[in-house]
Amino acid sequence: MKYKEFGSTGIKTSYLGMGTYYDPLWIILAKFGFLRDAKQKIQALKAGLNAGINLIDTAELYGSEPLIKRAIEGYEREKIFISTKVWPTHLKRDKLFKSLEKSLERLGTKYVDLYLIHFPGSSHSNREALMAMEEAVASGLIKFIGLSNFNLKGIEEARKTLRKNDIVAIQNQYNIKHKDPENDLLPYCEKERIAFMAYYPLAHGRITKDSKVLEVSKKFNITPAQLALVWLLRWSSVFPIPRASRPEHVIQDAKAVDIDIPTEILEKI
Ligand SMILES: NC(=O)c1ccc[n+]([C@@H]2O[C@H](COP(=O)([O-])OP(=O)(O)OC[C@H]3O[C@@H](n4cnc5c(N)ncnc54)[C@H](OP(=O)(O)O)[C@@H]3O)[C@@H](O)[C@H]2O)c1
Repeated sequence: MKYKEFGSTGIKTSYLGMGTYYDPLWIILAKFGFLRDAKQKIQALKAGLNAGINLIDTAELYGSEPLIKRAIEGYEREKIFISTKVWPTHLKRDKLFKSLEKSLERLGTKYVDLYLIHFPGSSHSNREALMAMEEAVASGLIKFIGLSNFNLKGIEEARKTLRKNDIVAIQNQYNIKHKDPENDLLPYCEKERIAFMAYYPLAHGRITKDSKVLEVSKKFNITPAQLALVWLLRWSSVFPIPRASRPEHVIQDAKAVDIDIPTEILEKI
């Protein structure tokens, strides 16, 4: 595995992370305490940890926090970087603290490394949440603050709101089929040393059926998923977070960091 500084945190994480959003039905069942295929999903996370991946993404919405708790048992907590997210209906101070406490309990950990607003609320509620997050940093419950699904204007507003901290990471969709962040967010993140956690890095699995991706991956004798990840890693600020639900896929994805493909070829995709 290869490691690089995650935004301006001073902490090195693996080039790749592991996502733990499964599907809407999985989330509904999880609300009733039924964690479908839990054993396989925990094995997938452990396979990633054993391959050196130390970045794990979740959210209070996903229902996957209890799986992470079980997956990280026996590993040194300080060596793992966990991000979780607060849902936009919980942006008021008291609700945010309740959400955070519950996430910590489900994760079985005293702190989360990165706490993100999952989707923007109104300017007022974003401000209230950011103030609460600064309090949470001061009390040691979270280490860093991030934003998900914000546009550039929203990110700049949030950075102006924060008094003692800065936004260290954003998490938005980015993949071969969705290149919008290249217009503004990615150049901004590169310049400002903000980590860009690329969600849907495999276009929710659709990348493996794209004809151009199939053609190029065949030529280099790698899998379409690996090509999609190498393509994202052209940017130093990007940390793709492919879903980890099968050990064999996670192991394959982890190897993408060691694959070299000329930039000219990647840029033509
Ligand atoms: N912030 C947000 O609003 C937001 C929104 C969506 C997602 N996310 C985060 O981003 C993560 C990734 O998104 P995602 O899970 O929806 O999509 P994704 O990672 O782009 O795609 C997942 C799909 O790709 C398949 N896959 C993974 N590795 C593969 C391989 N080596 N070969 C072939 N297929 C492979 C998976 O199959 P298997 O499951 O069978 O391995 C699954 O069907 C989520 O888990 C979550 O943490 C964040």
